Amino acid sequence: MAREHFRAELRQRHRMPEAAALERVLARQFASPEAEQRIAGRALRLAQAVRSAPRNAWSAETFLRHHGLSTAEGVALMCLAEALLRIPDPETADALLKEKLAGGRWQDAPDDGSLMASAADWALMLTGTLARWADEPDDDLPGRVRRVVARLGEPLVRGAVRQAMRLLAEQFVLGETIENAIGAAAAQRPWRYSYDMLGEAARTAEDAERYLQSYLHAIRTVAAHTPAGEVHARDGISVKLSALHPRFEEAKRSRVFAELLPRMALLSGVARNGAIGLTLDAEESERLELTLDLLDALATDPQLAGWNGLGIAVQAYQKRAPVVCDWVIELARTTGRRIAVRLVKGAYWDSEIKRAQVLGMPGYPVYTRKGATDASYAACARTLLEARDAIFPAFATHNSRTVASILELAGESQEFEFQRLLGMGEALYDALAAGAAAPCRIYAPVGNFNELLPYLVRRLLENGANTSFVHQIADPAVPLEELVADPVAQLPRPYEPHPRIPLPRDLFRERKNSVGIDLARRDELERLESAIGADRAQGTAPGDDLQPVREPGNLARVVGGIRPTGGEELERALERASSAFEAWSQQPANE
Ligand code: FAD
Ligand code: 2OP
Repeated sequence: MAREHFRAELRQRHRMPEAAALERVLARQFASPEAEQRIAGRALRLAQAVRSAPRNAWSAETFLRHHGLSTAEGVALMCLAEALLRIPDPETADALLKEKLAGGRWQDAPDDGSLMASAADWALMLTGTLARWADEPDDDLPGRVRRVVARLGEPLVRGAVRQAMRLLAEQFVLGETIENAIGAAAAQRPWRYSYDMLGEAARTAEDAERYLQSYLHAIRTVAAHTPAGEVHARDGISVKLSALHPRFEEAKRSRVFAELLPRMALLSGVARNGAIGLTLDAEESERLELTLDLLDALATDPQLAGWNGLGIAVQAYQKRAPVVCDWVIELARTTGRRIAVRLVKGAYWDSEIKRAQVLGMPGYPVYTRKGATDASYAACARTLLEARDAIFPAFATHNSRTVASILELAGESQEFEFQRLLGMGEALYDALAAGAAAPCRIYAPVGNFNELLPYLVRRLLENGANTSFVHQIADPAVPLEELVADPVAQLPRPYEPHPRIPLPRDLFRERKNSVGIDLARRDELERLESAIGADRAQGTAPGDDLQPVREPGNLARVVGGIRPTGGEELERALERASSAFEAWSQQPANE
């Protein structure tokens, strides 16, 4: 079956060498020289409109560029804010502030005072709280903050930092409740909206239940209030599956199907009855196969028949992306449902790279050059646009070059939409609307600012990266022609991954990195399981002189035996270990 064929292909491409993955992407590429010229021309016009748009000094984009995670101050401030949000009792929060602000590293900041200035900016710019209490001149911000902290004490500063977080959250969150958010959206038509009830990576069953209830309520409320129309033109909901189950992971597949699938079926049923869309966000790459399996189960659920609102986000930065598109198209065709596909580049790039290194994986699931992700995005876009009979494509981007490529690929038909995040890309889509190109939907987070942090950190990383479009368009030193140039033409030929991102095993110059087991892969888990099974089948009978050791999860099963060590034996063992230590510590890890 075609779907199974695509799934096999998917597994094969998971961490495949980058050059080979890109070669397959480029085989799907188009762009005649004339098309390329049209794309570049439109991308440039849009970029000019964005750069010349009046810049709101208080906008989220501006703020994040100045105080993002690319600066030491930004990192320190986010760490502080993050820690503060997690600490439940005021005493501990104040102790932390005392250490960080009054007595600790803040006063050892670089001589230029940038750390304190940034801290001051944070608090002053966003809250004004401290400013009201300080009557000193503006030209000594670091000193001023220090004095204000000393004078007012930690509780007030704690309040100010929380207030700062709250105001920052307001830039990215449409409302604390779905009712507020819908009210705010109504004042800002003609955008379409996809509401995201903030929450991800549930830690406990209670968290998951709380998120489920908030989604149920949101779906019912949106369905009741969104303007009438065809399902893809109405407002909808975006959901992160990790919010709905504390163990949304491959190793817990059977629990995911027994517990999470019914929750998704419930939410989908309510969305179907309300005739609105429900899109599964794309999260960490190890959740992809499980997400596709859940999508498959929902798309084939007879209770959901006749509903075209089911949707999924696909991340172009993954090497598997084009095949995921093929698979979803095939699923839509065989089930006779039109599935909505939101194409994104991907928001978890830094953590994908880091996790593959930490786990000693044989390769990365994502590309290491941004141009390769852009190429993959264009290839996936083409595949999706050519299958508009089966799927409804949405293109989520804030990049004028990407927008121009989509418009070129899409031709005359408007059977698709663009999407942007709340607080980002306004100027680009204002400029586009002036040319009446295609509808645009806003992804609008809803909820309490305490839940915003992971989302906010992803936005900080996205805006702070010097490869990012929104980062560069704000920098007048970057020529617009360069910014909108064809990213594929700039890739090295023959292609090589980014030289500063070696494969996980080549991370250290002096030795090979240790090799890990990919516990997110079903085939790896099955291999392990059968090895363990074989081991079990062999049986373990401890000798007569040994005390039996039992499997903690199954006390009836003896897994081996031990003999208590005597004092003399222990001494000898310690001596031997200590004399072997030197040679052992010189031993390369891969031998
Ligand atoms: P650009 O500046 O053109 O691209 C930036 C992107 O390029 C980075 O985010 C990264 O994906 C990629 N990149 C950067 N450096 C490298 C590198 N060295 N190698 C390879 N690739 C690199 N993201 C999700 O993961 N899941 C979602 O469900 C999701 N939903 C979204 C919904 C909407 C409406 C929008 C607008 C975004 C969504 N995102 C989601 C976030 C999205 O992934 C980012 O906003 C997007 O990547 C930014 O791309 P761009 O075209 O705006 O900017
Ligand atoms: C994120 O949460 C928008 O889904 C995307 O980063």
